[in-house]
Amino acid sequence: MINEAQIEETIGSLFRDPDFTAEPAGLYDPLRYMIGIGGKRVRPRLCLTAYSLFKDSFSEEILQPAAALEVFHSFTLIHDDIMDNSDMRRGQPTVCSKWNDNTAILSGDVMCIDSYRRIAKAPVKVLPQVLELFTVTAAQVCEGQQYDMDFEDLKEVPMADYMKMIGLKTAVLLACSAKLGALIAGADERACDYLYKFGYSLGLAFQIADDYLDTFGDSSVFGKKIGGDIINNKKSWLLTRALEKSGEMEKAGAVSYGTSRAALLSAMDMKTASEADRSAKIAKVKGIYTELGVDEDAKYEIIKQHAHAMDYAGMIGLPRTRYEILHRYAEKLLGRTK
Ligand code: IPE
Ligand code: IPE
Ligand code: MG
Ligand code: MG
Ligand code: MG
Repeated sequence: MINEAQIEETIGSLFRDPDFTAEPAGLYDPLRYMIGIGGKRVRPRLCLTAYSLFKDSFSEEILQPAAALEVFHSFTLIHDDIMDNSDMRRGQPTVCSKWNDNTAILSGDVMCIDSYRRIAKAPVKVLPQVLELFTVTAAQVCEGQQYDMDFEDLKEVPMADYMKMIGLKTAVLLACSAKLGALIAGADERACDYLYKFGYSLGLAFQIADDYLDTFGDSSVFGKKIGGDIINNKKSWLLTRALEKSGEMEKAGAVSYGTSRAALLSAMDMKTASEADRSAKIAKVKGIYTELGVDEDAKYEIIKQHAHAMDYAGMIGLPRTRYEILHRYAEKLLGRTK
């Protein structure tokens, strides 16, 4: 049986000997930089973990597809940082701020292409399914990112729309990672489908945690600037729930100015021109979130989605020791602080 130490060792080896030596440097340096500064490697880890449920050793057939997931993900982050105007990621300057937006666009494009080269190394027997899954997923991530941007211009979105949006921009890639590992390992359709659902629920929990940390995290651990979602009026889980909850409280007559929708809506309109403006807006909105208790609600929602994921994991019908590997993977994700 493959154990977690072997999974970690394999993840470490995925990019140890990078075939990223190509020129021109202006195109490939940002790619090398982004992969080099690392990340949590959540998606290749999930793919290798799913594979390990059905196989007793790793072989070449899974390594490049697992790496493809990380390269694709890193590409989406490079473009996301342009879209979100972010200048810090993984504790380092983002590609668009270290270089510029044009470089980030083109280096991102070549990473997307690189991910296809790697995914195409899946075994021929499952290649049509692998390519279909990966391609559908990639398009869904773009759809989710478009909703995310569209929502910035709306005052409020229903919680169901928020969940659909994060399902697309984040959860489908975790779902795809889990299913891909199973597919390449030759698991049956039922197991593949439950692993997809497992990854999807975990992905929802993961994005809600990301939204929570964007306001309540510690920047030196999280690796990103705190408050970016507030500045951009992102319809994060916190803002979506805060708008919903303040409305519910008003209907119930349980309202003080600190928890009113009016206070929140006016905080969303605060100016963000200077550093001082931005700090004031972040402090104001954060205060309202705390007053409303949506920080605690988010933690509860993360646990709920995590429990759904474990329900799906239980349905695969794995031997106990293998189920426990999935369980530990999910626990680790649940406890994320970065
Ligand atoms: C960030 O993903 C974007 C989200 C989907 C929340 P990660 O939190 O996996 O980022 P890295 O790869 O570890 O930097
Ligand atoms: C990004 O969501 C999800 C992607 C598909 C790239 P976020 O915009 O919340 O990710 P971070 O916080 O910048 O990592
Ligand atoms: Mg974004
Ligand atoms: Mg972002
Ligand atoms: Mg975020």
